[in-house]
Amino acid sequence: MAAASKPDYGLDAPTMVKRMLSRGAWTLAFAIAIYLVNRAEYPGPAGALLRVLGAIGVIFLVIGGFMVWSSRVGKLQVRERILDSLALQGDERVLDVGCGRGLLVIGAAKRLKSGKATGIDVWNPQDLSGNSADAAKENAKLEGVSDRVRIENCDARKLPYPAHNYDAVVSCLAIHNIPDREGRDQAVREMWRVLKPGGRLVIFDIFRTGEYAACLRECGAVDVTLSALSFLWCAPSRTLTARK
Ligand SMILES: C[S@@+](CC[C@H](N)C(=O)[O-])C[C@H]1O[C@@H](n2cnc3c(N)ncnc32)[C@H](O)[C@@H]1O
Repeated sequence: MAAASKPDYGLDAPTMVKRMLSRGAWTLAFAIAIYLVNRAEYPGPAGALLRVLGAIGVIFLVIGGFMVWSSRVGKLQVRERILDSLALQGDERVLDVGCGRGLLVIGAAKRLKSGKATGIDVWNPQDLSGNSADAAKENAKLEGVSDRVRIENCDARKLPYPAHNYDAVVSCLAIHNIPDREGRDQAVREMWRVLKPGGRLVIFDIFRTGEYAACLRECGAVDVTLSALSFLWCAPSRTLTARK
């Protein structure tokens, strides 16, 4: 296989995207076939059925297409907004929790000089296409930041780092994948534990950001703010920021 020449940060929820696109294509194909078979004998009903089934097929295709756009374009914009909000000076230690193929950890490393960025993950294949530590390391190499990036295999609920170790902790679309509330709270508490006093925490996620905000307030976080809702991946999503 030829070596990649450009970084690839993967497609989120690849099975769901494929399902949406194939359902859309099959529904459209079925609608057209039914129309062609029946249009001579029953032109009115055949046309009506084509419009209804065609609309359903198009809706599936639009949702699938928007999910692809969210991964390939929208998420890069989210990354820049998160990193801009950190206003890194260049000497910080940054942790990306659930880094996948390295989107945020590599983005942070590109803004560092003497600092280091660490990405941790358990690399669930159903959460991101081609998800692996090797893919993240390869992307770091292609972006020219291997010397500033460390990629480690560990669970967000049990970070193997001492308390007060990072100037900034970030996470993008990862924590909602933990199925139970206790596990998600545990992950947020771990992110809080490893953050230095005065450090900043930014989480972008779908569905659960209110939970994370409540957990952080219980931990004693200050300036806990939630952004306005957006609907990337056709799901309610927000950016949560907090300071220790
Ligand atoms: C949708 S992907 C997003 C990856 C990356 N943050 C990005 O934005 O491209 C979600 C990631 O969370 C990771 N993840 C899920 N549960 C995790 C856990 N308990 N600990 C660490 N990572 C986890 C998955 O393996 C996956 O890489």
